Amino acid sequence: MSRPAPVLPGATIGIVGGGQLGRMLALEARRMAYRVVVLDPQEDAPGAQVADEHIAAPLGDLDAARELARRSDVVTLEWENADAAVLRELEGRVPLRPGPQVLEVAQHRLREKETARRLGLPTPKFAPVRSAEELERALGEIGTPAVLKTVRGGYDGRGQAVIRRPEEAEAARATLSALEPELILEEWIDFRLEVSAICARTDAGEIATYPIGENIHREGILDASRIPAPISPALAAEARGMGEALAEGLGVVGLLAVEIFVGKDDRLFFNEIAPRPHNSGHYTWEACAVSQFEQHLRAVCALPLGRPEQLRPAAMVNLLGEDIGNGEGLPALPEALAEGAVSLHLYGKREARPRRKMGHLTALAEDSAEALALARRARQILTRRG
Ligand SMILES: Nc1ncnc2c1ncn2[C@@H]1O[C@H](COP(=O)(O)OP(=O)(O)OP(=O)(O)O)[C@@H](O)[C@H]1O
Ligand SMILES: [Mg+2]
Repeated sequence: MSRPAPVLPGATIGIVGGGQLGRMLALEARRMAYRVVVLDPQEDAPGAQVADEHIAAPLGDLDAARELARRSDVVTLEWENADAAVLRELEGRVPLRPGPQVLEVAQHRLREKETARRLGLPTPKFAPVRSAEELERALGEIGTPAVLKTVRGGYDGRGQAVIRRPEEAEAARATLSALEPELILEEWIDFRLEVSAICARTDAGEIATYPIGENIHREGILDASRIPAPISPALAAEARGMGEALAEGLGVVGLLAVEIFVGKDDRLFFNEIAPRPHNSGHYTWEACAVSQFEQHLRAVCALPLGRPEQLRPAAMVNLLGEDIGNGEGLPALPEALAEGAVSLHLYGKREARPRRKMGHLTALAEDSAEALALARRARQILTRRG
């Protein structure tokens, strides 16, 4: 089989979506002298601020998708939920990496779990829910506590309801099915910790996986990551194997982040995938020779991957809208950054809203617990929250 020709600096990379992930992809691409064109509806989207060109149009706009294809040598996504029609439009005109077969799975929680199961990976028990009858049957199989989720469109914990007692289930179904008719009921895993495996894969089948990191959520949204995760080498190897099995099984070209629960008894459970840079991989910018953003671009441009080794233990804490507002916390920035090896990333979002990711801090230290404490101390100074 012939391999795609490398896309070299000077060429134009199209990015669907101009949020913070698109911004960081664009910054890394421009460092390597690629040109970048971002598709995003918002005039001053974080990614549009740093791209060479911006197509300001809805992500579902077929004319805009055609225009993106026309201006790009290769197209990738910072956001996996693009319409199937847009993906078809792009795919027919320009190399689209990763391909639709990956995105169709990543957009759909039921397909994700079925794919993981087909590849022999352990998942929480799950069942589809499209009606009150199916919910009752699913509850009978899975029991409570459980979590009901929309199969599409959820992020940062949106589109989910925890069901502690069977009596709560029908009300949750009614609320969620107003958002999206197809739901999935999942067994609630009383996990010890959450981890992610961030793998990169090229079309030639080369795979590189970053060290396994621990992810700490707060109210369903990622709050902090520490890398490496405090787990045994054997468990880390198992988590890595899960990531690589999915990257290979799906034929991913680009990054694949795989979220995994570590049970109290050290059993691992697949949670979900994201075929793009992941919030838990932001630390790679400072702590690894090749960042997740560069790694994704290398795979997308058919270049060899960088070695995914970590040079220093690290931690990342998110800065949310409620933390920094529209910059009210920033007068304390000099004090926060005086804490030591802490780096600041702000995404240039004009409007702070609660739960909106506005930026993050990365800290480096002798071990990842110390890095986490340092990152939290800096955030505390900046935001009055630890
Ligand atoms: N089956 C489960 N058992 C226990 N906790 C769960 C389960 N499903 C989800 N959670 C918790 O809710 C968080 C968010 O869930 P999930 O990853 O499915 O949704 P999401 O909205 O796509 O999140 P994100 O965009 O932050 O990745 C998980 O990281 C975990 O903390
Ligand atoms: Mg998740």
